[in-house]
Amino acid sequence: MEQDVLILAIESSCDETAASVVKNGREVLSNVIFSQIDLHTVYGGVVPEIASRKHIDKINQVIKEALDKADVTLEEITAIAVTYGPGLVGALLVGVSAAKALAFATGKPLVGVHHIEGHISANYIEHKELKPPFVSLVVSGGHTHLVSVKDYGTYEILGRTMDDAAGEAFDKVARAIGLGYPGGPKIDKLSKEGNPEAIHFPRAKVGDSAFDFSFSGLKSSVLNYLNGCEMKGEEICKADVAASFQKAVVDVLVGHSMEAIEQYGLDKFAIAGGVASNQTLRRAFEEACAEKGVKFYCPSPVYCTDNAAMIGVAGYYEYIKGVRHGYDLNAVPGLRLGER
Ligand code: KG4
Ligand code: ZN
Repeated sequence: MEQDVLILAIESSCDETAASVVKNGREVLSNVIFSQIDLHTVYGGVVPEIASRKHIDKINQVIKEALDKADVTLEEITAIAVTYGPGLVGALLVGVSAAKALAFATGKPLVGVHHIEGHISANYIEHKELKPPFVSLVVSGGHTHLVSVKDYGTYEILGRTMDDAAGEAFDKVARAIGLGYPGGPKIDKLSKEGNPEAIHFPRAKVGDSAFDFSFSGLKSSVLNYLNGCEMKGEEICKADVAASFQKAVVDVLVGHSMEAIEQYGLDKFAIAGGVASNQTLRRAFEEACAEKGVKFYCPSPVYCTDNAAMIGVAGYYEYIKGVRHGYDLNAVPGLRLGER
């Protein structure tokens, strides 16, 4: 009988200190997340220095809890996987250093994982039948990537944002209408009370790639609208602004993704990243995919936002392909997908 592969995964690229134990790439034995959101909310966004310091406080406790919850000892672990980019350099360094120390002390293999590959791989946790090839849209606070997943660990980037990430746009617009950080979930909630057709915000087309995105013009348009109302002394209906802005983002994300599916002739589509937990976005994709006869996948919200289980899954597929990193593994804040 083949031995189980148990991956201990560590994630610290932004403001979540997370560790997880994943069995054979698809079974999550534990998924511990210490969210720092409360610490950063008062500043209206993630403060990198504070994030790094909090990761240092929490990392060992979170790793110990992940092992305890999984009822697995460090000796039983097969390999240690860690996010080494992209992300905030000081934050990444905490996870990378912890993983290197554990790998050195135990003699276990070390596998560096790309954060976006982690987000995409979150889809494998609850959809055991999902296998490449498929198209994936990764929408988070730092990234908006439309990706062709050709095989495990083999990607082609079809489109990306030219300026703000989708989540960043949610956060900035939320701040402008006084909702606070993080904006995504707050806009998601408030927009249920608003009319998505109340205000027409632009849907940007950029450059020569049909699959690239731009959200900074949309953000400016929302700010202009708010200023205009203020100057005219008109009352702002925040729920209408939230719903109309959200509709503009969703329309573009769905439109580009459906074009990509058509062009690449694939029949499976998966969303990933923090913004993928947006209820209007999920519903819009469900409908658009059903119309095209495309199978639609999305992770549960807990696997959309940053977590280490997704890093454990991606780490498993890298590990079985033979990817190993040395003790010189460093944080790479601008790491590109497909790079090692
Ligand atoms: O994937 P994630 O946890 O971190 C990054 O890798 O960036 O994504 C965080 C982002 C934030 O911008 C947050 O506002 C957004 O995801 N987000 C949402 C929702 N939940 C989180 N955006 C829209 N709707 C949501 N329900
Ligand atoms: Zn992320």
